[in-house]
Amino acid sequence: MIQHGGDDWDPAALPDLSGRMYLVTGANAGLGFFASEQLAAAGAHVVLSGRNPNRLAAAHDALEARNPGASVETLLLDVSNPGSIRAAAASVRGGLFSRSRLDGVLLNAGIVHTPRRRELTRDGRELVFATNALGHFVLAAELLTTLAKSASRRQNTRIVWLGSMSTHLGAPEPTDIQLENRYDAWQAYVQSKLVVHALGLEADARLREAGVPVDSVVAHPGYSIGGRTPRVHGVNEPSRWKRVRDGLQPFAQSKERGAESLVRALVDPDVRGGEYWGPRFWTLGRPVRQRPSRRALDQDVRTRVWQECERLTGIEWPFARAARAAR
Ligand SMILES: NC(=O)c1ccc[n+]([C@@H]2O[C@H](COP(=O)([O-])OP(=O)(O)OC[C@H]3O[C@@H](n4cnc5c(N)ncnc54)[C@H](OP(=O)(O)O)[C@@H]3O)[C@@H](O)[C@H]2O)c1
Repeated sequence: MIQHGGDDWDPAALPDLSGRMYLVTGANAGLGFFASEQLAAAGAHVVLSGRNPNRLAAAHDALEARNPGASVETLLLDVSNPGSIRAAAASVRGGLFSRSRLDGVLLNAGIVHTPRRRELTRDGRELVFATNALGHFVLAAELLTTLAKSASRRQNTRIVWLGSMSTHLGAPEPTDIQLENRYDAWQAYVQSKLVVHALGLEADARLREAGVPVDSVVAHPGYSIGGRTPRVHGVNEPSRWKRVRDGLQPFAQSKERGAESLVRALVDPDVRGGEYWGPRFWTLGRPVRQRPSRRALDQDVRTRVWQECERLTGIEWPFARAARAAR
């Protein structure tokens, strides 16, 4: 499953990202925060997005305090809410931010601790699927033309989706994508991640076919937990008990380390569209290229989930417009 890279990528010495702009969803905590920090520390301008203004402000302040001179802005964005996605994407497209380009989007926001009982979003979608997968399908569609315009001027413009190693642990065939017949909290998570993975691979195939020079890549952070992660005021403040408990987990790493795979997928010039990246030792380690699960590679699954997302949202990705914008 894991293809050891054997290369000399150093997560602590990223290429100079000055002049580049990235948008990160769910940037106020966890992997999203540390990925944003690593991008900003390498000189990128980073738009931290999140659904809660107070948590977002705390993350913004913490990032600036830890990285004097970092170039960061915030954007309110609830990925489970189509209205919020449209408004946020319009702000980005309208150039409300200090840079008019967009070099990449890290589709990170997600529900990891899924509700025990099936819950719905305001517009009636199953919450875990809507947050982890469907909202990001819509956001990427809304930003595709902006990304393509940037790609016409500079290489390595990317959409990075958050997969999970759980998709290797017997993810079911996603026939009931919103778990209407039988909901189970673990299944809701694994299936949402399988859908994300399939969407990421399918997006890349469709981008290539349409001649859009934007890459779609899937990455996962292994097993990255808060109790092994540095304390950051307002962002990660685990209790002493959580530190002890998480410290006893031998196969876990910090979210700071986990973010390294996501960042590599977003900025390493050697990464190609359609690839899958994650930690070298599956749950932890430095980022290497990996092999997706059999089910995520299944063309039937990929086509089915793509069409289902189109049907549920009424949105088709603007491939032709993006290809024109990139010329
Ligand atoms: N940690 C791991 O080992 C692991 C493994 C595989 C994959 N992943 C994936 O990595 C991503 C981040 O995980 P994490 O461990 O960093 O989780 P986390 O610490 O719980 O952070 C999740 C982030 O997503 C945000 N979020 C949740 N629902 C949202 C919504 N509707 N709109 C906007 N933001 C929302 C949260 O914001 P709030 O603070 O407002 O809730 C938070 O910023 C997820 O997609 C997860 O599935 C994680």
